[in-house]
Amino acid sequence: MILEQPEKLVEQARAARLRAYAPYSRYLVGAAVLTAAGDVFTGCNIENASYGLTICAERVAIASAIAAGQRDFVMLALVTANGGSPCGACRQVMVEFAPDMPVIIADEQGIRQTLPAHALIPGFFGPEHLTP
Ligand code: THU
Repeated sequence: MILEQPEKLVEQARAARLRAYAPYSRYLVGAAVLTAAGDVFTGCNIENASYGLTICAERVAIASAIAAGQRDFVMLALVTANGGSPCGACRQVMVEFAPDMPVIIADEQGIRQTLPAHALIPGFFGPEHLTP
């Protein structure tokens, strides 16, 4: 069961990837985040003719979970065509909620690497930096 979990999450991220709206870059991204309650929230990248308004798949998945009242994250899967890595903004959002959460980076063939969110963003800005 535990061993199947990453594969199942990747499968859901893969399905979400097909819902990406990426007519400009044509780079489709899918994400799926598993919560402690056992629910999965998915996201895909959503681009805009005003390019800077683009939203990444990981942040869509995380925002969707939070809006549903769940922010205890167990693991997150990311699927792209070539095993692309999460962008800096998404890394920062991941560590805000779940620094130890395994992040599974996959492509269409399977899992390429898994590492904790904090390892993706050494020296990240945290709440401790907000106090003098
Ligand atoms: N993208 C994501 O969805 N997640 C990332 O972590 C990196 C980039 C999207 C944004 C844009 O729609 C496309 O990939 C190319 O940058």
